[in-house]
Amino acid sequence: MASKKISMKDLDELALTAADVLAQVREAMIEPHPRKVSPTFTSPAIAELCRVDKTQIKYLTQKHSLPAGNRMEGSKAKDYTLEDAITWIQTVGNRPTRPSGQLGKVIAVCNYKGGVAKTSTTVAMAQAATLRGLKVLCVDCDGQGTATQLLGISPEQDVEIGHTIMPYIHDQQPDFRYAVQTTYWHNLSMIPASSGLLAAEFALPAKAMSQRGFPFWEVLKNGIAPLREEFDLILIDTSPSLSYLTLNAMYAADGLIMPCPPDALDFASSVQFWGIFSELIENLPSAKDKSYDFVSVVFTKVQQNEISRIVKEWMKQAYGAHINGVEIPESNAAKTAAAQLKTIYDLSKPDGSAEAYRRYKEPLDRLADFILDQLAIAWSKS
Ligand SMILES: Nc1ncnc2c1ncn2[C@@H]1O[C@H](COP(=O)(O)OP(=O)(O)O)[C@@H](O)[C@H]1O
Ligand SMILES: [Mg+2]
Repeated sequence: MASKKISMKDLDELALTAADVLAQVREAMIEPHPRKVSPTFTSPAIAELCRVDKTQIKYLTQKHSLPAGNRMEGSKAKDYTLEDAITWIQTVGNRPTRPSGQLGKVIAVCNYKGGVAKTSTTVAMAQAATLRGLKVLCVDCDGQGTATQLLGISPEQDVEIGHTIMPYIHDQQPDFRYAVQTTYWHNLSMIPASSGLLAAEFALPAKAMSQRGFPFWEVLKNGIAPLREEFDLILIDTSPSLSYLTLNAMYAADGLIMPCPPDALDFASSVQFWGIFSELIENLPSAKDKSYDFVSVVFTKVQQNEISRIVKEWMKQAYGAHINGVEIPESNAAKTAAAQLKTIYDLSKPDGSAEAYRRYKEPLDRLADFILDQLAIAWSKS
């Protein structure tokens, strides 16, 4: 039997039906903005975040007039809102802060490939940085909008092109300040993305063609510049490609993080990525003098097997000191959280095995500590 040809109209219908089903799934499964709710914290969790002994909580509450938490129903225990937790951390957490007169730092999270945990890492680091007292902005530069979605904003339903970085790319805005939105997460703002971001891949080269010498790689850096006054840390999530936007994100950044599973093909593609990036940069006037505070390759989705151990060794040889000491395991806790469009930091308590939760969250916490250390070093130098 001859199979029926599939016309563009069929594909159009397929896209509409699929979008409809996805909207229903979202409605049923997740809590879109503004319903996504931030986690609460127990007293021991507050003590851990502030790195004080839990027996000191009562004393510190009085000494610094800190939020005392809300008594949990049917229990003597208290829980604290995210905002309370951040007040605690900022008052007694003794974490590095941005010295006055210093600008916020920009970190781009990048890798040629999809599925390597770029977005999971970006959003988790954004949340974890607020839990270390920082004011954070997450810029979604991937038209897929996964970071946008994780931060409680539905790219297809809630984001118009005017909410993204595009008006600035089209010269309709002086910088990115118009696009900053608060999220359900205290001290974490974002610039959302939608599929309309694809237009940047045409707009930027078109401008480079029509205006001789136009620095098409500096557009994001310039758009972000004024936001470095307001935010301590700006994290940029990029698409799985070395697109014009990704190049811009990497050029705007003070530090680069490349999440990469220790898998032979992922390793090979990461090598290609660095090769293309340096070749591109070398050919851009003004970009040659670019330098980074740090460039760090983080093992993600690490499986406990021999192949993974071998590839890790290759990668350590290839990237030397740029390999981050932190390894993020392949984890069911990550999958369970992601299935609800959450990160591990969205959960007030383990959802499933406490051990799996700890095994996944602990290295993410250490990665956040690494980032904070890098910021403190950079701030102390500049
Ligand atoms: N440590 C992990 N263990 C298991 N699954 C993970 C882990 N980190 C991320 N994932 C899952 O892998 C998929 C890709 O992650 P994502 O962060 O979207 O990658 P990218 O942004 O690089 O495409 C998602 O389904 C995510 O939930
Ligand atoms: Mg992604």
